[in-house]
Amino acid sequence: MGRLDRKVAVITGAASGIGRATAIRFAGEGAAVVVADLNRDGGEATVRDCKENGGSAVFQQADVAKESDVQGAVARAVKEFGRLDIIYNNAGLGGAVGPIENITLENWDRSLAVLLRAVFLGIKYSVPEMRKVGGGSIISTASVAGLRGGPGLHAYCAAKASVVNLTRSAALELGKDKIRVNCICPGGINTPLVYNSIPGGEQVSAQFLAHFQPLARAGRPDDIAGMALYLASDDAEWVTGAAMVVDGGLTAGWGSTPGGGGAAQGVGLGPRDGWSGPSFER
Ligand SMILES: NC(=O)c1ccc[n+]([C@@H]2O[C@H](COP(=O)([O-])OP(=O)(O)OC[C@H]3O[C@@H](n4cnc5c(N)ncnc54)[C@H](O)[C@@H]3O)[C@@H](O)[C@H]2O)c1
Repeated sequence: MGRLDRKVAVITGAASGIGRATAIRFAGEGAAVVVADLNRDGGEATVRDCKENGGSAVFQQADVAKESDVQGAVARAVKEFGRLDIIYNNAGLGGAVGPIENITLENWDRSLAVLLRAVFLGIKYSVPEMRKVGGGSIISTASVAGLRGGPGLHAYCAAKASVVNLTRSAALELGKDKIRVNCICPGGINTPLVYNSIPGGEQVSAQFLAHFQPLARAGRPDDIAGMALYLASDDAEWVTGAAMVVDGGLTAGWGSTPGGGGAAQGVGLGPRDGWSGPSFER
């Protein structure tokens, strides 16, 4: 028996990376999945892999920045599979990057349309369907960039922080309907979003990402799919309004390097062995 037997899910951005891994995982746990993405070739490949993994899936071409397309993805779930239990608002891109004074208004708005407005639309249109079946699970991909700033990532950080707080306000309102609303804050996951902009591609990116957090490897799409599965499943029946951090320890504190050493300790700033007494005695 699968953890998502008889559940129906819409997953946006499921042609690649985190969304793709999650769609395949959900299908393997018994869910029927609407794979929603701009990218038809990638989306159809995900559908094939979902089916190979034992589930049902269909592709729905959708631009999540468009209200009618998000509405269409939800409608497709109901038309094709008769109900909606889970939506994973996951589609994303880097958007406007670079110094703040160089960001055009147009690129700012385009970024927030995909990274934030789409999450609002996903929640708005899934709620009526979830009410009809007595509850549901809404999941969105935020980021550790929604918990901290990132140089040159102003629109991205602003949008992801907003996803975290939209998750909380929606959770407060929808608990009475047994609709749970949570988001995931991934750290550095080695997906095309990251490695397509790094010279040397996937392998170089994996080495690069391994050095940012105490758990010394790059994040994998499956690390996030595992959390999405938990939040989608009945195991998370009492979890709502949460921002689940999955980042190999990146945001656990400052000064950490792989292997448990510490940049701060390396320059003699961190605690040493033994005892650190009152400062006046030193
Ligand atoms: N990779 C990371 O390190 C990381 C870290 C934190 C958060 N995230 C977030 O995870 C989510 C998934 O990203 P990923 O890393 O898997 O990247 P990815 O590029 O592999 O996948 C993103 C998918 O979103 C789709 N997409 C982009 N714009 C769209 C639109 N307007 N409408 C529909 N689909 C659209 C793309 O076609 C792609 O299939 C994003 O929200 C991203 O911001 C990624």
